[in-house]
Amino acid sequence: LAAYDFFGGHQAGITTPVQDHLHFASFDMMPRTDRDDLVSLLQDWTYAASRMTQGLDVSATGAVGGSAEEPPDDTGEAQGLPASGLTITIGFGPGLFENEDGDRYGIAASRPAALVRLPAFLGDDLDPQASHGDLCIQACADDPQVAVHAIRNLSRIAFGRARLRWSQLGFGKTSRTTAAQATPRNLFGFKDGTANILADDTAALDAHVWVADSDEPAWMAGGSYLVARKIAMLIETWDRVRLSEQDTIIGRDKGEGAPLSGGTELTEPDFSGSAIDANAHVRLAHPDQNDGIRILRRGYNYVDGNNDLGRLDAGLFFLSYQRDPAQFITLQRRLSTDLMNEYLRHVGSGIWAIPRGATAGSYIGAELF
Ligand code: HEM
Repeated sequence: LAAYDFFGGHQAGITTPVQDHLHFASFDMMPRTDRDDLVSLLQDWTYAASRMTQGLDVSATGAVGGSAEEPPDDTGEAQGLPASGLTITIGFGPGLFENEDGDRYGIAASRPAALVRLPAFLGDDLDPQASHGDLCIQACADDPQVAVHAIRNLSRIAFGRARLRWSQLGFGKTSRTTAAQATPRNLFGFKDGTANILADDTAALDAHVWVADSDEPAWMAGGSYLVARKIAMLIETWDRVRLSEQDTIIGRDKGEGAPLSGGTELTEPDFSGSAIDANAHVRLAHPDQNDGIRILRRGYNYVDGNNDLGRLDAGLFFLSYQRDPAQFITLQRRLSTDLMNEYLRHVGSGIWAIPRGATAGSYIGAELF
């Protein structure tokens, strides 16, 4: 089973082959914390993340090696489980740089100009309890217990410095980042991730995902920007739509995932004829309709129980990485006439700057301080 290094030029969890499970968490810094608190938190998170991603407890004494008279360092539920491909990806939200209390951490001048809350989009119905946050952690693993263990222990380590604002579990990845991964399916039953940016496409990653050395600000070089959107899917309504209409809405066929203009899953769609509706999702989202814009998608399905009408509270926890938040904003605006919108409701939203990977011996985000 895979174990990915936490240290490296880029953070793991972006091009890493998409794991099966997600636990995503957003945090707010506690009132009256200062720069030293933030730096020590990032150092402590780095140490714990570097261990947990290798299948180890959060500290050397861990779950059972410490004093019997004190609560253990590690909560213990991952004992005996392998690393399970765990990646921990850490991000900085707009509010970390400056909020109502001013520039508490002395980093306001370093805020990337594009790191601001996303604009309102048509059809947004955002729940503040599933939106925003000063810090985020994306934990992905092939075992859900390992992903939850990571978020639980990182939240615990944050005690007194940052507190959990909201979190989201996800399963059944809705994207792929390597050609070897079979394209998974979302809860509409369609293949998702066919036209994604793949890990071996360095030219596309450099053009569309990684912040370049020539981009501003310099400390973001090698990083990326993460957009999270919790998108509720009205699956009971969708399930009453006839198959041909479902295909029309997506612009691909449900079985093979081929574009309706013909071919197989990996055939490029041909928009010159009328086979693909003018407002089909793949047409509106396609780079040809958006000045060549591409993003790296890494979302997950979610089901958060059900509502009192007996409908599943289900959807897609959309995660995308891009070199500039403008890429997402352009695409999301283009999708305002998407035929799929009748079956969607955007209920959560967040944006974070994802710094470059930490160097061994240093800590995540060190170049900001
Ligand atoms: C493609 C579903 C939201 C951007 C696709 C495909 C499906 C799909 C089935 C075709 C297969 C593929 O290439 O992956 C969904 C569902 C969504 C959703 C169910 C919401 C619940 C979004 C959002 C964006 C987006 C919010 C960006 C703002 C894209 C892009 C493509 C795509 C860029 C590839 C287009 C291409 O190059 O052919 N999506 N999507 N999608 N989607 Fe979505």
